[in-house]
Amino acid sequence: MILRIVFLSAFLLFSYHCLAQSTNELDAALPEPRAYIPDSQYLDFVYHDHDDLTRFLRATSARYPNLTALYSIGKSIQGRDLWVMVVSSSPYEHMIGKPDVKYVGNIHGNEPVGRELLLHLIQYFVTSYNTDQYVKWLLDNTRIHIMPSMNPDGYAVSKEGACDGGQGRYNARGFDLNRNFPDYFKQNNKRGQPETDAVKDWISKIQFVLSGSLHGGALVASYPYDNTPNSSPLGVVFQTYSAAPSLTPDDDVFKHLSLVYAKNHAKMSRGVACKSATPAFENGITNGAAWYPLTGGMQDYNYVWYGCMEVTLEISCCKYPPAYELKKYWEDNQLSMIKFLAEAHRGVQGFVLDPTGTPIERASLKIKGRDVGFQTTKHGEFWRILLPGYYKLEVFAEGYAPREVEFIVVEQHPTLLNVTLTPSKRVEGTTVPFYRPLPIPQQQQHYRPISPTYSDSGIFSTISSGLNSLYSNIFG
Ligand SMILES: *[C@@H]1O[C@H](CO)[C@@H](O)[C@H](O)[C@H]1NC(C)=O
Ligand SMILES: *[C@@H]1O[C@H](CO)[C@@H](O)[C@H](O)[C@H]1NC(C)=O
Ligand SMILES: [Zn+2]
Repeated sequence: MILRIVFLSAFLLFSYHCLAQSTNELDAALPEPRAYIPDSQYLDFVYHDHDDLTRFLRATSARYPNLTALYSIGKSIQGRDLWVMVVSSSPYEHMIGKPDVKYVGNIHGNEPVGRELLLHLIQYFVTSYNTDQYVKWLLDNTRIHIMPSMNPDGYAVSKEGACDGGQGRYNARGFDLNRNFPDYFKQNNKRGQPETDAVKDWISKIQFVLSGSLHGGALVASYPYDNTPNSSPLGVVFQTYSAAPSLTPDDDVFKHLSLVYAKNHAKMSRGVACKSATPAFENGITNGAAWYPLTGGMQDYNYVWYGCMEVTLEISCCKYPPAYELKKYWEDNQLSMIKFLAEAHRGVQGFVLDPTGTPIERASLKIKGRDVGFQTTKHGEFWRILLPGYYKLEVFAEGYAPREVEFIVVEQHPTLLNVTLTPSKRVEGTTVPFYRPLPIPQQQQHYRPISPTYSDSGIFSTISSGLNSLYSNIFG
């Protein structure tokens, strides 16, 4: 037994050295990102309405055609485009082997600090690419999709200075978009809204590895699950701060990602309560359900359906603070927003191939002991954010013999791991195994995703339409 372990360690160390020639440099080896030099000729620290926002995005994509691509994933109820700006040295094409990540702002229309910070983040990236090594590394190795506003209609009716309250929170039909996603734990009967449907379609087409959803009204990074298999205690009038946590099998990773945001923020990790009546969060992070459980949230959907690790980032105590405070919010969040995205380069990544080196699309993967699966893209790629340690990757694909591969993850760079599957005779009645994140009580109904449609209604042609959901391996 001991011999086996020694042998295994030696083997892993050996493989690690072989694979160490990562194309991704270490973010640790880079100088810290520099400060942003705002230029009010292009973008001021003021709130931008939908037309101003559209103008800024169009002008930026025209000025920086090699670093940006602007697309719309659909329209809000009132016909406003749901803009996404890709910022990357390869804006129009996925870089094979390199991760796509995203930020979504303003899902609650009356929480627009994130909306403005994302515009400045775009401006920061394009103006820093040639002068800042960190930004260059990030944009050369990552495609960053930035959606400043998921709820432009709600924003249009919200009021500057309104720190609390619900006016503008909802879409134009009165739906809370962060309660509008299919839910793993509870049936969600809310009718799907155009904004939500557009996002669902978007994330079914691009395999996002990491995501942040920006909110206001608190100062905390809140990680999945937001919902829980337990029923909420009836008759509870106040959302207490003592709800039970609902932890994912990737809890270590989610805590880490949340801490990266909180610790690089000017004050989030101090965990100071926004008001005396609101909770103080230890280290500025919390499990979503432990704060308060909710059904139909976006982050659980991203993670359970697509294996995309999304964290909810509450970045301002006041939901809609006065514009003169925006510059301060930028300064508080700049480093967090950048460092969080760089975490997509932690863990394991690679390809699943057949013996001829042809990529295998939609192979089912799972890290042993972490029963939320993920799938390969049409290029056979996979990514999984993991902290340093020893892991086993389980790989399955129709028509191939399943494989289990051991590997290590180190702090300094992602582990590159190619897995070759050998064809096997199809045995009648065997299917690719599927994973469920947690046992669901028998009596409890839950949403089963329907088969994805392969409509090629293309956001634009370079967004591959073949990268599809985990529905088959999660839900069988
Ligand atoms: C974009 O890249 C191309 C090819 O590398 C180059 O010729 C062109 O000058 C660049 N354009 C801008 C605006 O930087
Ligand atoms: C893994 O496979 C990809 C795709 O075929 C290839 O480009 C890459 O060089 C391989 N990496 C290693 C370490 O074998
Ligand atoms: Zn919110």
